[in-house]
Amino acid sequence: PDEPLVLGIETSCDETGIGIVRGHTLLADALASSVDQHARFGGVVPEVASRAHLEAMLPTMRRALDEAGVTLADIDAIAVTAGPGLAGALLVGVAAAKGYALAADKPIYGVNHLAAHVAVDTLEHGPLPASAVGLLVSGGHSSLLLVDDLARGVTPLGATIDDAAGEAFDKVARLLGLPFPGGPHIDRSARDGRSTIVFPRGLTAPKDLAEHRFDFSFSGLKTAVARWVEARQRAGEPVPVAEVAASFQEAVVDVLTAKAVDACREHGVDTLVIGGGVAANSRLRALAQERCAKHGITVRTPRPKLCTDNGAMVAALGSHLVAAGVAPSRLDLATDSAML
Ligand code: KG4
Ligand code: ZN
Repeated sequence: PDEPLVLGIETSCDETGIGIVRGHTLLADALASSVDQHARFGGVVPEVASRAHLEAMLPTMRRALDEAGVTLADIDAIAVTAGPGLAGALLVGVAAAKGYALAADKPIYGVNHLAAHVAVDTLEHGPLPASAVGLLVSGGHSSLLLVDDLARGVTPLGATIDDAAGEAFDKVARLLGLPFPGGPHIDRSARDGRSTIVFPRGLTAPKDLAEHRFDFSFSGLKTAVARWVEARQRAGEPVPVAEVAASFQEAVVDVLTAKAVDACREHGVDTLVIGGGVAANSRLRALAQERCAKHGITVRTPRPKLCTDNGAMVAALGSHLVAAGVAPSRLDLATDSAML
């Protein structure tokens, strides 16, 4: 009970999240999503997301406080995602956090969304070692990060140069006639097929590695799958969905895990944290475990609800900053949509 009570606000994309933690203990994780409002546009519309955050902010705050059984007066610090993310969406969260901080006279901490994806694992598996590598794979990001000290921030090692990993899963699912979001459907379908088709592994050729050691590329893979499927259809032959799903999935997770392991080894790190919606992928988890075990690297993956965007991750990072004695941000804290 002596540990600080920290509230976290997340609004970087389409989820309005408010989480409350005490130390490493999760007390509340309230979420509202505007995902349904974006469905007909085939992607997140920033203006729609911002308005939805504004509407959801106070009710979500009410739910979080009720769930934790506390009042705003009990909160010791407020953490909020300052970036990276959609500019207008971030502004709603930061403006709300400032209002609460000023009204209740609490310190405010502007935090990095990607660092928060790594920090959330402390709620599941306890404190992180001094150094860790984060592999963040979702519909919005695909990045490798070096975390030397969560209190000081993260160092980007690489990111996708085109589609995000989740985006690739969704696009390939669509061309296989599987529902949106496609990731879970590809995962399930792949269990009934074998990975027999060799699809390209983006940015793994020696000449690409020189410049893009820890970057990813999935658009060539998506095109290769589309060509393969079209050739089958043109020949009037049925498309072996499970086999294509398994082969595509293998191409994605092969590259993700190989580069994650290389990043850990190059930086002498023995802990890999995997986050983002794609972290739910069963083959990614299995192959990461298998490859990391060979090099004495421990894989840490929070439960799926904590892997996707939420307020708990922001509260978890805020709690870490408070415990580390980091000075709070100022009330004129700015958002930074490209923050890193
Ligand atoms: O973090 P997240 O919920 O939100 C966004 O980034 O928008 O990630 C969603 C992404 C989607 O692309 C979805 O297809 C993918 O995560 N995903 C998966 C699996 N579960 C969700 N991809 C592969 N395998 C899964 N089991
Ligand atoms: Zn995220």
